[in-house]
Amino acid sequence: MSDASTLPSPEGLPVLGHGMAFSRNPVEAMERWAAHGDIVRLQFVGEPMYMVTGPEHIERILVDEQEAFTIGPRQRTTFQGVEDDAMTTATGDRWKRLRRAAHPAFTRDRIHQYGDRMAAVTARFVDEWADGEAVDLHDEMRRLTVQILGETLLDADLRGREDVVMDAADALVARTNFRRPGLLLPDWVPTPTDYRFRRAVERLDAFVDDLLAERRASAPEREDVCSVLLDAHQRGDLSMDEVRENVVAFLLAGHESPAGALTRVWYLLDDHPDAAAAVRREAERVVDGGRPTAADADDLERTRHAVQEALRLYPPTTGVNRQATEPVTVGGHEFDAGAQFMIPQWVPHRDERYWDDPETFDPSRWTRDADRPEYAYFPFSGGPRRCIGADFARQELTLALATMAGRVELDVTASGPLTFVPSVQLRPEPDITATVRR
Ligand code: HEM
Repeated sequence: MSDASTLPSPEGLPVLGHGMAFSRNPVEAMERWAAHGDIVRLQFVGEPMYMVTGPEHIERILVDEQEAFTIGPRQRTTFQGVEDDAMTTATGDRWKRLRRAAHPAFTRDRIHQYGDRMAAVTARFVDEWADGEAVDLHDEMRRLTVQILGETLLDADLRGREDVVMDAADALVARTNFRRPGLLLPDWVPTPTDYRFRRAVERLDAFVDDLLAERRASAPEREDVCSVLLDAHQRGDLSMDEVRENVVAFLLAGHESPAGALTRVWYLLDDHPDAAAAVRREAERVVDGGRPTAADADDLERTRHAVQEALRLYPPTTGVNRQATEPVTVGGHEFDAGAQFMIPQWVPHRDERYWDDPETFDPSRWTRDADRPEYAYFPFSGGPRRCIGADFARQELTLALATMAGRVELDVTASGPLTFVPSVQLRPEPDITATVRR
């Protein structure tokens, strides 16, 4: 057993430590640091941080010893001012209560019921693209995933109203962008980014309040997430602020990551014509000219593997942040209570100890047996706090991709190498344009 201070620490700058390298290019920095070991000691401005990339250590933190950890301050402060009363920022018993209240909207049966609408919304969306039209792929995938969320979880048609959600997500990403000017200023100094953030959050809150008011006035037997949360409010389990902020959390977390995943899967398929042809052939065979149903999702194996592989190569989130609530031992090292851990998916997802030819997009690898640790792959995190929308997202991505592949081909071009905004999400920095071929 050894003290955490003996862990390897990659070279960093005086005062700024490792923060500067991370804000310049997060994935390049994380890969370079991981070469020093499965747990490394970093120094961000004012706080030490341990980066954990060994699957067995990740499993210990997220699953086996999860009682000794809580979500870290970085993960909590990311959503401060927008989701203060949502499960995303809550800890302890409050988090359990909030998560339990939303659970009925995310059961297997319920997600299965959303399947037909996921495909129907995608078909309607794609059918509006003209042959030869060039679209901003990421922007369009965000509009699509907002509409899917609207018509499944919220039972609301959000066409033409996507900007309210997207502006708030943009403002959140801008505020957490580690490169933004003003990041080193004290919190009480207002910056234009803060101002824009507050305005966008106010608009989104008002929008959700209207949705909830509509829902309260309508028939009680609706089964969307608003009704599930409002029922919990009626029972005295949730305050109205908690109802509203959880809906906000679903809108923000629930559109951004699936949109990022769809953008990347199309970007990758464009470069891999064989995989693209396999997805298209499967759509033609399974879907039978119409639209896939939730029942088809099991048969859409090639499509599912393309999605899984895109989530491996380009995980939508930068990582998970945990903090020890008591002294803990991980990987034979002792950490004090309060120690912070950053757990990026990117590094183990591309580690050649667990993946053959890890940099290659190869959906067929998912058909071959491989003896790899479970936490070599965890795009949705793991343990009790894992993404509540994971099954929803898996079904959505498979059905949306199959629906699109059955209707259009996309020629994808990026305005530069695929780098990412250094923020809570790994958002692509270059413009990604898709030209539609029917
Ligand atoms: C490709 C799609 C998605 C990815 C990769 C993803 C990934 C993640 C990750 C890594 C976390 C952090 C978990 C942790 O701290 O351990 C998370 C949390 C969360 N996600 Fe997702 N997510 C996706 C889609 C969705 C969808 C569709 C929804 C809602 C419909 C959603 C709602 C949430 C919420 C509410 C949390 C907070 C859960 C909690 O704190 O208990 N996500 N997601």
